Amino acid sequence: MLDDGHFQGTSGLSARQPPDHTRIRSFVNKAFTPKRVASMEPFIRELAVTTISRFEKDGQADLVTQLSYDLPALVIFRLLGIPDQDVPDIKEWALSRVLMNFGNPSEQEQLGHAGNLVKYWQYCVELVNSRLQHPTDDLPGDMARVFNSGDHTVSTHEMAGLVYGMLTAGHETTTNLLWNSFRDLLTHRSQWEALVADPARIPNAIEEMLRFAPSVFTWKRKVKRPVTVAGVELPVGANVLLLLGSANHDSEHFVDGDELDITRKNARDHLAFGLGIHYCLGAPLARLESRVVLEELTRRLPNLRLKEQEFTFAANTSFRGPDHVLVQWEVE
Ligand code: HEM
Repeated sequence: MLDDGHFQGTSGLSARQPPDHTRIRSFVNKAFTPKRVASMEPFIRELAVTTISRFEKDGQADLVTQLSYDLPALVIFRLLGIPDQDVPDIKEWALSRVLMNFGNPSEQEQLGHAGNLVKYWQYCVELVNSRLQHPTDDLPGDMARVFNSGDHTVSTHEMAGLVYGMLTAGHETTTNLLWNSFRDLLTHRSQWEALVADPARIPNAIEEMLRFAPSVFTWKRKVKRPVTVAGVELPVGANVLLLLGSANHDSEHFVDGDELDITRKNARDHLAFGLGIHYCLGAPLARLESRVVLEELTRRLPNLRLKEQEFTFAANTSFRGPDHVLVQWEVE
């Protein structure tokens, strides 16, 4: 089905090696600039305020379905110049991609997901082609301008791969980070209250949240050269699953690593965004989104409390966030 649908969705960056990786990452860095990320703040704030005001008077909400399911998707889609009405389709296609790569779907389910992947890839190809014709004020438009100015260090196929990658990497991850943050801050309520009292603590709290319960808690890698880790010899070509979430609790590096402490001095040493040449491209955007949402939520609903509930999670190897976070508060 994938071949019939001309599916050629290849990894934008994460599974590539130098010199390919260096070439493509240098190209996208010219478009994914700090200025482009910072320009998103007013939109993110407006989105957070509008979304919270929809349930502010209800006295109860599911912060997953009512606040942070769509928000990071709407942000990355705005950055990539995708209209709001395409959000449900792309969320569904991106989930198919996650489940095909990190889940355990049955043969029948795989067919459905493959159909989605074909549509997803075609969407990315068409998006890049349209920007090359008419570069708009968004990230693919910026890439098209770089390309049209004569920088052909990446092909249009690779540009489509970058969009394809960012459309998945750019929302499930941040969505899950927000969900984990709501749950953990409210479970450790004194830490929530500390943020309400002093929002200047939010940036460090986000680092601690990334450390404590990273939304990408494992990552897959292949061994490139023979190496011995903690006495275990790993041969070339071995598949390894890096336990980022476990490293983040390493008591040799983080004092009382199993405790949540939003004032932790070295919280930023976490591996939630990876390390080295593959360090997360979207980390500044994820940090910005989380800061704005937490600023607005602590300001508007300081009395939030968790309802009695059991947290459940979608089954997969790498992406983790609760299905629901039910909260309540007194309405004045
Ligand atoms: C809380 C949110 C996020 C988390 C926890 C996260 C996590 C990660 C991790 C662990 C890696 C390293 C993978 C590796 O070693 O190959 C990575 C890479 C990457 N992330 Fe994120 N990510 C987040 C948000 C985003 C966003 C918003 C974007 C949107 C642009 C994004 C785009 C990417 C890309 C393109 C790479 C590959 C970079 C490369 O290989 O050079 N991520 N991310």
